Amino acid sequence: MNLAGKVALITGAGSGIGRALAIEGARRGLELVLVGRREAALEKTREQIDADGRVDIVVADITLAADRKRIYAAVEQRCGGLDLLINNAGVVEVGAFGHGSDEITEAMLAVNLMAPINLTRCLLPLVQKKGGGRIVNIGSMFGDIAFPYFAAYSASKFGLRGFSEGLRRELVQEQIGVTYVAPRGVRTPAADSFAKLVAPMGMKLDDASAVALHIWNGIAREARDIYPRGPERIFLLLQRLFPRLIDGNLSKLTGDPAVREAVQPGQG
Ligand SMILES: NC(=O)c1ccc[n+]([C@@H]2O[C@H](COP(=O)([O-])OP(=O)(O)OC[C@H]3O[C@@H](n4cnc5c(N)ncnc54)[C@H](OP(=O)(O)O)[C@@H]3O)[C@@H](O)[C@H]2O)c1
Repeated sequence: MNLAGKVALITGAGSGIGRALAIEGARRGLELVLVGRREAALEKTREQIDADGRVDIVVADITLAADRKRIYAAVEQRCGGLDLLINNAGVVEVGAFGHGSDEITEAMLAVNLMAPINLTRCLLPLVQKKGGGRIVNIGSMFGDIAFPYFAAYSASKFGLRGFSEGLRRELVQEQIGVTYVAPRGVRTPAADSFAKLVAPMGMKLDDASAVALHIWNGIAREARDIYPRGPERIFLLLQRLFPRLIDGNLSKLTGDPAVREAVQPGQG
């Protein structure tokens, strides 16, 4: 896919992976529509973009139907149609499952799962108007390998992966591709919520800019999914073929005092 001149909408573009995707996308000549709830954060992303091209901002909460309609209207008015929808916005819920609350979990599922599904349905006509394009859903490695203390978050990303698979098979005749992206840990504000688990869980944190580069390369080659390079590929295979091996390894974490301390309520 030739990216230059294409119109891409990125949710959660005011920080982390979304901001990095915007900066790299502009460098590749895309026209961008940046979406998030905090206008100042989106403006900061725009300031970091050294582009002659157009960068529009729509301040919106993607969990709200009225805001999704405003996003549709803004994109239609300013760009006519849409080539790429990047469902990136997300929140992390971490901690002992029993210490969570229905409200926190429902809010997380609303952002991570319902909002990308509903926003895709809302904006699909704008992609169809272009005669084709791509939906890109930012999931997580936890959407394939579910970790203890991230059970509900993992469920949201498993769901997003399922949505991506079904939609890909449904839209193929319309020349609309679907890419599912599964980053491993990334140094972003969201990662602050599990900072104390990084070392004891043996996680690796990538730079958001490197992740954005990897994602845009995948989008350019119209990849069906984008996973990190490295040992994660072996873990994925083990998860699919021998899930009990992964059960054994990850269950051990729950006996690690550093992990237990990190997931006490009030710890970040
Ligand atoms: N960091 C990691 O280790 C990691 C690993 C794998 C996958 N991911 C995934 O990568 C994606 C981006 O996360 P990140 O790490 O870059 O986190 P981040 O820096 O916290 O970015 C998340 C963005 O989502 C936006 N957002 C949250 N709720 C929203 C809502 N209701 N409506 C509109 N925008 C909303 C936030 O902006 P506002 O507050 O301004 O709305 C924020 O800019 C997420 O889907 C996350 O699950 C992250």
